[in-house]
Amino acid sequence: EVVEYARALHIEVIPEIEMPGHSEEVLAVFPELSCSGKPYVNSDFCIGNEQTFEFLENVLSEVIGLFPSKYIHIGGDESPRTRWRECPECQSLIRRAGLKADTRHSAEDKLQGYFNTRIEEFLARHGRRLIGWDEIVDGGMSPDATVMSWRGTAGGIRAADEGFDVIMSPNSSLYFDYYQSANIDTEPPTIGGYIPLKKVYDTEPVPEELTPEQARHIIGVQANVWTTYMRTDTILEHMLLPRLA
Ligand code: ACM
Repeated sequence: EVVEYARALHIEVIPEIEMPGHSEEVLAVFPELSCSGKPYVNSDFCIGNEQTFEFLENVLSEVIGLFPSKYIHIGGDESPRTRWRECPECQSLIRRAGLKADTRHSAEDKLQGYFNTRIEEFLARHGRRLIGWDEIVDGGMSPDATVMSWRGTAGGIRAADEGFDVIMSPNSSLYFDYYQSANIDTEPPTIGGYIPLKKVYDTEPVPEELTPEQARHIIGVQANVWTTYMRTDTILEHMLLPRLA
């Protein structure tokens, strides 16, 4: 219903299924897929556990069946990667896969890269392409993936430099869950931040420092309106407008 409603308005819905971090809600129900094996302890999937891949591929198969979009967003942001350091299964996989720390990345960063690559291959076998937040560049993966730059524009600049296509979605100007007024006493409560209309209007999707070759990789922009603090549709519209326009 949602996909069809949007399609009639010439809008394509691209689903995001977050992994391997921000997954507390899954791991509360399937604690065996976390490194500790206990609910409410970890937010990351255990990558050393093959069942994690079986589970996520099943989820993605359902998602692929529901959403016809060429792209599927797999999140990839804010994974602490610390639990993998103490997990025997994850460390064993790091050794078996020959993942080694280098000057820029830890072995656990590379473990997320290994994970992303396997998920990307799964999506590719089903004719779909992966989008991930800019953290996916850290662990090393093929530039067939598309990167959404949310931690400002730096992640997107680096990704474009490495040959990834990039969607600019910087929390420095396109996060509509941040306050739009400095007078916060008269505003509905938000997560924080301050992005007034002018800042949105002044957004330059293609950063000046990019060469023309790098600039070709900036394929668009996205604004985010995380509704964590927005309890009603009226508040949601208040946050969206006029900034979205
Ligand atoms: C994000 O806001 N963590 C993508």
